Amino acid sequence: MNAMHRDLARLVEQAERHSRAAEDPYRLRFHLMPPAGWMNDPNGLCKCGGWYHVFYQYGPFDPTGGVKCWGHYRSRDLLCWEQLPPMLYPDQPWDVHGVYSGSALVEDGVLYLYYTGNVKQPGAHDYIKTGRGHNTALAISRDGVTVESNELLMTNADYPPGLTCHVRDPKVWAQDGAYYMVQGARTLNGRGELLVFASPDKRRWTHINTLATPEPFGYMWECPDLFCLEGQWFLVCSPQGVARQGDRFQNVYSCGYFPLYGDFWGEYALGGYTELDCGFDFYAPQTFLDGTRRLMLGWMGMPDADYENPTVPFGWQHGLTVPCELTRRGEKLLRNPARELEALRVRPAEPEEACCFDLEHRPKGDGRLVIRDSAVIEWGKGRLALSLPRGGAGRTVRTANVGDVRALRILADTSSLEVFVNGGEAVLSTRYYPDLAARGVAVTGGGETALWELDALKIQR
Ligand code: FRU
Repeated sequence: MNAMHRDLARLVEQAERHSRAAEDPYRLRFHLMPPAGWMNDPNGLCKCGGWYHVFYQYGPFDPTGGVKCWGHYRSRDLLCWEQLPPMLYPDQPWDVHGVYSGSALVEDGVLYLYYTGNVKQPGAHDYIKTGRGHNTALAISRDGVTVESNELLMTNADYPPGLTCHVRDPKVWAQDGAYYMVQGARTLNGRGELLVFASPDKRRWTHINTLATPEPFGYMWECPDLFCLEGQWFLVCSPQGVARQGDRFQNVYSCGYFPLYGDFWGEYALGGYTELDCGFDFYAPQTFLDGTRRLMLGWMGMPDADYENPTVPFGWQHGLTVPCELTRRGEKLLRNPARELEALRVRPAEPEEACCFDLEHRPKGDGRLVIRDSAVIEWGKGRLALSLPRGGAGRTVRTANVGDVRALRILADTSSLEVFVNGGEAVLSTRYYPDLAARGVAVTGGGETALWELDALKIQR
């Protein structure tokens, strides 16, 4: 631990102690949030020695962002969490302006944390083509709580030609005796793509392939992930710069996946792109293997959106989605809450009183659901709409093409909704800010409904 690390740790601790966040009635009950300040992408998700680790992009001093470190939670069961001091601070020459997103590789009980070190050079730069260093770095932790070494692996000079400075968010995995890494990139001619690297030893990396669509698809692909699920490869990323087309790409940035055919290291083709979420607040998700299941958490937020959450005056902003399990149907990913969350169902809820709840509904046909007088979910004619006539803080309506709605599951927290349609075929995640006194959920249109009150996560500080 260097002197800068110690100073920053002290400052973060102070910021958390003095934060007013805990006084905010919109604090979430069963989602991970920043103790103070700002949260964005989940990072370094993994299971190691019986612990689930969730790191995240954390700006402890500023609810609207600031220089990022890696905040840290861990848990043995996804329900009781321990809030730990940040794992990585911007305390190295290659990450002075932010320890950006990355991933964890677990080997022999050791955490290998790969991340992007952000450096901004002084001067007149656009910080796209010049002025920015996006360095690939590796931090190692043996105890899962403190970092014992940190080294620079690659700088922009080590990436292939034709790229801007924007190359980031390494996702690393081991396969067949080798190591692989994907990173998101923005080319000089304004296209998003994915770089694939390979390494024999976790440290020396060689660029072996570039994955891109035949036609341009956005100018930057952030936070890539590449994995095989039940025999099919999927490339997940968060593309920026894709224009709205009807119900598709309604948010400022998208987040979704392509099925990948062939070999990611050689000849390949990408199938059609599907958005992972149709709500207002879902971005930069990451997956990891937990035994045989693949879990995903996303950032329940959206960069550069034109609304601000009313939590900002309380000195904090954003949260992560609940952990979800991914399964596959053909070339589609299905996303459903991890089964552990069912343990939070404390008792059946009264529909008029419901506030934080888990609702399962099997509609008879077209229908409508009103939550706390603020959110309206309506379905019919193959579409589902989520609108926020009150308490949207600038958010209005999002729609999804879902076909016939056969099943709905809704997780409602104090200030968030996650709507899972037809067993996870479509998901809509959003923040909302209902009147604090407003309670209740009303279903019309017929069908069967089950409703439980949901307990809070236990978070030990
Ligand atoms: C995505 C992102 C990443 C980057 C990080 C910085 O939200 O822009 O590409 O590493 O956030 O906080």
